[in-house]
Amino acid sequence: MRKPVIAGNWKMYKSVAESVETALALKPLVANANHCEVVIAPVFTSLKTVADRLEGSNVKVAGQDCSTEMEYGAHTGEVTASQLRDVGCAFVIIGHSERRQFYCETDTFVSRKAQAALIAGLKVIMCVGETLEQREEGNAEAVVSGQLDGGLSGLTASDVARIIIAYEPVWAIGTGRTATPEQAQEMHAFIRRVFAQRQGEEAANGLRILYGGSVKPDNIAGLMKQPDIDGALVGGASLKADSFAEIVNYNRG
Ligand code: 13P
Repeated sequence: MRKPVIAGNWKMYKSVAESVETALALKPLVANANHCEVVIAPVFTSLKTVADRLEGSNVKVAGQDCSTEMEYGAHTGEVTASQLRDVGCAFVIIGHSERRQFYCETDTFVSRKAQAALIAGLKVIMCVGETLEQREEGNAEAVVSGQLDGGLSGLTASDVARIIIAYEPVWAIGTGRTATPEQAQEMHAFIRRVFAQRQGEEAANGLRILYGGSVKPDNIAGLMKQPDIDGALVGGASLKADSFAEIVNYNRG
């Protein structure tokens, strides 16, 4: 069985005090959530404090990005995956569409970052997803399989076992326009098929594929009913402890 992952991406929001306040409010609300892994990704400057305050709880901490470089060096503004581990991160998000769109992140970068993160012992949440234009042109699957091939190139089978894919259609991010459960399922099944062709059936059956894009307390249950949706990567609705906790504790009945 694939254990679901519900991850909150806080993007460039919250001071250290605000991050700690939200994290501490979340902790008791999800303390009994044994059905899934719970992850939050605060801004870099809050990671250490939040991770310290969550130590021993079931809420794990993720970085929102890491460097392609593995060793310390003269790379102003960058943070290595091992430095994320050092401050208590267990996960890192890589290849988010905002990084691809606004910071020129290519598939080559995504794959190098994934390798660096895996070597440092982090679990990787690798994001893929098409824009509205690409979907309307009928290219959604080609775009996503290209991102998968690019992002996973150079990884070994044991590396791939520590990768989680997040399918985040760009047109659904922050727009309130979520993909329907059927649309999301269709792409998740496609991702699993592509993965099976490249990495084998067993790896594909174990691969966790999260959906992201306007996930809210009122649509999570419908998404999670789909056979190939193994969790969610949540933006806006993860910024408040109560709404994120509602998503984590979705109705599984
Ligand atoms: P929203 O949930 O705000 O649409 O953001 C999704 C996202 O980008 C998570 O990484």
